[in-house]
Amino acid sequence: PYLKNQPIYFVILLKRVRMNKANNQSPMQLFLDTANIEDIKKYAAWGIVDGVTTNPTLIAKEGVSLEKRIKEICKVVNGPISSEVVSNDLDEMLKQGRAYAKWHRNVYVKVPMNAEGLQAVKILTKEGIKTNVTLVFSASQALLAAKAGATLVSPFIGRLDDIAQDGMKLIEEIVQIYKNYNFKTKVLVASTRHPRHIIEAAKLGADIATMPPEIMAKLIQHPLTDSGITKFLQDWDKVKNVQ
Ligand code: E4P
Repeated sequence: PYLKNQPIYFVILLKRVRMNKANNQSPMQLFLDTANIEDIKKYAAWGIVDGVTTNPTLIAKEGVSLEKRIKEICKVVNGPISSEVVSNDLDEMLKQGRAYAKWHRNVYVKVPMNAEGLQAVKILTKEGIKTNVTLVFSASQALLAAKAGATLVSPFIGRLDDIAQDGMKLIEEIVQIYKNYNFKTKVLVASTRHPRHIIEAAKLGADIATMPPEIMAKLIQHPLTDSGITKFLQDWDKVKNVQ
């Protein structure tokens, strides 16, 4: 009977896969927002780093070439690694983006949200190159990025909070809009400042949150865990030799 009903089972399976996608049930991804290779190695060893975002400021802090550092990161983390174009000229963006994409299959070309950036995303997407639209501060910008075919969109919530706007409200709007139309573009919550940003992003169903290493360190910490571990070890010490 199983073989006879195989097409039915297949349809049920397909429906389940689609439902999971609609319910956004793929696990949330956590990225590191840094170009510091030692930090990347340290947290990658925890086994929960899914990707890395860099930007020109982060690369400048390290004093290394973009190409060298991106290639190094690709060896440590097997996931999307964002490398940003540094031009406002469309042809130059395309030239840089195409070159970055050749460095490694996991390189995502980070493109700023402006008219040239949108055109670059459309063209690079057609060529099969993955993109991450950065410096997104409004839902309308996120809508355009998705329509251009961006693989990822990066709303900067901390910088909105900094100017007394509600960064998390923007995430809520983008998640809703993308869900309404089943856009494939993933929401990458960027410019995070503290662990609550990550938790709120997760509650809203954002696909990815990127964070500086200091925030990843804070995600694991709780004083009650530390004191609990110390107490368990102390108590175990008292009885470990008892026969
Ligand atoms: C994201 O891709 C950016 O690199 C980053 O999140 C910017 O964060 P900042 O506002 O802390 O500079």
